[in-house]
Amino acid sequence: MTKPEGAEAIEACVFDAYGTLLDFGSAAKGEVEALGDKADKLIEVWRVAQLEYTWLRSLMQRHADFWQVTGEALDYAMDHLGIEDAGLRERLLEAYRVLKPYPEVAGTLARLEAAGIRSAVLSNGSRAMLDAAFGAAGLTNRLDAILSADSVGVFKPAPEVYALATLELEVPAARVAFFSSNSWDIHGASSFGFRAFWVNRRGAVADRLPGGPELTLSSLDSVPAWFESA
Ligand code: LAC
Repeated sequence: MTKPEGAEAIEACVFDAYGTLLDFGSAAKGEVEALGDKADKLIEVWRVAQLEYTWLRSLMQRHADFWQVTGEALDYAMDHLGIEDAGLRERLLEAYRVLKPYPEVAGTLARLEAAGIRSAVLSNGSRAMLDAAFGAAGLTNRLDAILSADSVGVFKPAPEVYALATLELEVPAARVAFFSSNSWDIHGASSFGFRAFWVNRRGAVADRLPGGPELTLSSLDSVPAWFESA
């Protein structure tokens, strides 16, 4: 089993939301008929625009919450693919609001709780989106905190956002294990001082940025065993 050195020093596990705990691909699953072979492309263009808009708005100092950014990125993606369908837009956004978690997430959080490890979500998602998705998935009571970048008015990878977790959980950054499927988020988190673990669900290649992952995993499956006594 892959286990990081010094795992016993970890006091809390902090997770990114979209793509890490919540499957953003699930937003288009119910719309395969409407989208045909454009489904995968739409999800990809939507996601890339959504991320770019968060970074651009952070640089421009023109913050808007992630729900607005997600809608604007969807408008861009639909336009890019020549899709004009207001009903489809509404259905995709509603599906995004209550995205499904990946299959191992509920079990992972339950086992971490049983092992006495605190868990939190730290996301660029807006407070309302995060409450809706984790509430719908029945996971709210498994989490010690759901932290939204909303409260600092800038998006990850700005250090102020990662600092929310150390402040809220009252734990030093070096005792936090941070998990994200987004490589840029892993670089941001390790640069901030977290122990960063890349959940590389889609077999992406590594970014060339400061910092980097302590370990790369393909899912969260192996994580609870780091903290469970044999
Ligand atoms: C999150 C997105 C960006 O912060 O993955 O949850």
